[in-house]
Amino acid sequence: MGQPKSDNNQGSLKNIAIIMDGNGRWAKSNKLQITQGHEKGVAVVKDIVEECVTQNIDTLTVYAFSSENWARPKKEINGIKTLIIKAISDQVPELIDQRVKLNFFGDLEDFGSKIIDKISKAQKDTFLTSPSLELNVALGYGGRSDIIQTSKILAKKVQDKEINIKDINEDIFSQLSLVPVDNIDLVIRTGGDKRLSNFLLFQIAYAEIMFIEKLWPDFTKEDFISCLESFKNVERRFGKRI
Ligand code: IPE
Ligand code: IPE
Ligand code: MG
Repeated sequence: MGQPKSDNNQGSLKNIAIIMDGNGRWAKSNKLQITQGHEKGVAVVKDIVEECVTQNIDTLTVYAFSSENWARPKKEINGIKTLIIKAISDQVPELIDQRVKLNFFGDLEDFGSKIIDKISKAQKDTFLTSPSLELNVALGYGGRSDIIQTSKILAKKVQDKEINIKDINEDIFSQLSLVPVDNIDLVIRTGGDKRLSNFLLFQIAYAEIMFIEKLWPDFTKEDFISCLESFKNVERRFGKRI
């Protein structure tokens, strides 16, 4: 959203994205309410953030709520909304201590003014020009809708003669997208399903993708570290003959 985004660091692991899936199945298998599954999911995010800080990762982008998740039962959505407010209140002091900068992105309007105000305060409170980690939280986000919205912004800029068609490139597109990071190096999806569920799309063009069987509430720091270890063994060729 106009702010500087992370460099495209081709060789090393700088930018990680996680599709945190499996809260519902975890709750069910532990005979708990769905919201308790989401609550345990938030606790896992805290552990992974800590590990990202330890490992000097630049950005962690997590999928908290997709545009498609609005189709879930009202009770679950209300539970998630309450949890967002609680998670922000509980976690922001620790994020400040860890020098973590918090950003939310997605179509936030449908979450209502209480959450929007809470988010904007949390973003202000954690703002730093050189944080230890940027934690980007996708809320009400959909990759296809982001691409279409970005295309509309570009079309308007051309129409208003702010930019020329020939100047449209990947950098400009990335800057105008809702996603606060240009290139994801690694995508991890827990919960066993091998799909992207409309997450990021443009930014994961050359990401390594790891599908993990464990449900998100069972995912541990050790599991995360083993993903980082596996990443080290991947030869990233970017189409070149190496
Ligand atoms: C992911 O867990 C969290 C959200 C989509 C909000 P799920 O709630 O999708 O968990 P499963 O896939 O039903 O187990
Ligand atoms: C993806 O999980 C979205 C989030 C983790 C927030 P879903 O559970 O919504 O995805 P599908 O329905 O299995 O594709
Ligand atoms: Mg799911």
